[in-house]
Amino acid sequence: MTALPNQLPSESLLDQIADALAGPGFIIIDQPLPVSLINGLIDNLLAQQAEFKPAGVGRQGDYQRNQDIRGDAIQWLEPGDLAVTEFLRWMDKLRLGINQRLFLGLFDYECHYAVYAPGAFYQKHRDAFRGSPGRKLSTVLYLNPEWDLVAGGELVLYDEAGEEQLVRLAPECGKLVLFLSEDFPHEVLPATQSRQSIAGWFRIKPA
Ligand code: OGA
Ligand code: MN
Repeated sequence: MTALPNQLPSESLLDQIADALAGPGFIIIDQPLPVSLINGLIDNLLAQQAEFKPAGVGRQGDYQRNQDIRGDAIQWLEPGDLAVTEFLRWMDKLRLGINQRLFLGLFDYECHYAVYAPGAFYQKHRDAFRGSPGRKLSTVLYLNPEWDLVAGGELVLYDEAGEEQLVRLAPECGKLVLFLSEDFPHEVLPATQSRQSIAGWFRIKPA
C-alpha cells in the first residue's frame, strides 16, 4: 500500500454520532471509514497475528480462568504502519468532534486488534463502571472480509441492568459500533469462523 485517501469523519457524521450518543447512547455505522483503510488494517492485522497474546481480564489473572471469561487474542495498536496511523487520525478527529458537541472531555484513545478463534467468546461484561475515571466511550470496528451471517459471533448489547437485549450485531466488515462504556453491558457470542476486530476506548482523565 503506497497511499491512503485522506478521508476523515465529516461534520455531518460527527453530528449524527453525537446525537446518537446523547440519545440512546449507542450507534452502529455501516461503512464510515474508507475501504482502502479497512483493507490496510486487515493486512496489518494478518501480518502480526502470530504475535497476538491471549487477552487478560482484570489485573493479573490466571490464564485458565480468563479463558472462561474471554477467549480472544489481542495486540495493542501502535502508530508506525500507514493504515494504523491513518486510523488513529480518524479516531482523533472523532474524539475532537465529540468533545466539541458533547463536552465529554475525552482525552485519549487506546485500542487493540482482537482475534477470536472459532468457539471463542467474551462473556457479558462492562467496559467501565459508573463514576470510575477511565473508559468513557467504547468503539468496535469489524475486520472480517467475509462474514457468513449464520456463523454467529454477534456483539450483543444489553440495557443498563444487563437484562434486556437491545441489539445483536453481526461483525461484518467495516461496521463501526460506538457506545457509552458505563451504560451498556455487552457480550461476544462464539462463532464458527475466526472473528477479527479493533476494540478501542476513549478515556477521560482521572479526577
Ligand atoms: C471488548 C468487547 C466487542 C466485540 O473487547 O471489550 O466487548 O464485538 N468487544 O468485539
Ligand atoms: Mn467490551
